[in-house]
Amino acid sequence: MVTGRGGELVLRRDGSAFEVIANGVFLMDTRNGESERLLVTGAADRLTPGATILIGGLGVGFSLRAALDHPNVGSVVVVEREAAVIEWNRDGPLRSVHGDALADPRVRVVEADLVAWLRSTLSAGERFDALCLDIDNGPEWTVTEGNAELYGESGVDGLARLLHPGGVLAVWSAGAAPSFTERLRARFADVRTVDVPVPRGEPDVLWFARS
Ligand SMILES: C[S@@+](CC[C@H](N)C(=O)[O-])C[C@H]1O[C@@H](n2cnc3c(N)ncnc32)[C@H](O)[C@@H]1O
Repeated sequence: MVTGRGGELVLRRDGSAFEVIANGVFLMDTRNGESERLLVTGAADRLTPGATILIGGLGVGFSLRAALDHPNVGSVVVVEREAAVIEWNRDGPLRSVHGDALADPRVRVVEADLVAWLRSTLSAGERFDALCLDIDNGPEWTVTEGNAELYGESGVDGLARLLHPGGVLAVWSAGAAPSFTERLRARFADVRTVDVPVPRGEPDVLWFARS
């Protein structure tokens, strides 16, 4: 167990799988990852070779691996606020889950709070071809209070301004969030949602938005 910026974090082994538990609540495991991969491949499929991708939330690295394996992806910035998560992926038990993806020269890992980092990156003028965000259970179920800013009107506007023309915003959620869909529709010309069935309960939901 470690105490991270968002609270207590535990990496637990269950047979051949690993589970990440945050503040006593299940956050992520290495069992499936279909929707986490689709978050990135769905965005990259809409881009052209050499694309610059931002991944918000490293987790167990499914999204990162999918980005590196996609022919359109040129470079990836991963923003993760928990030093322990980065360490578990870089030199710890999660490294084998994604074949040491953090060592790939196309990857830059930034240890930071994504909300604050995006704000300063917007001011600094850096732009991306895709923003792939998976830091919460969803726009209406954030893991920490400060994350909610991302999904509000000014958050969505900031995300849109961080994209190159034709760029794609992709967002992951463990369930539907109709008011977030409406907020995206108010800012982006093309908004699609994709339901990804899961073994139990509500499907995961992905949004892909572009201007
Ligand atoms: C569900 S996991 C991401 C899963 C990832 N898509 C994958 O493929 O494994 C969410 C991650 O976001 C991180 N996170 C949560 N809030 C954050 C924030 N404000 N800034 C940066 N990272 C954050 C968590 O520490 C966790 O590693």
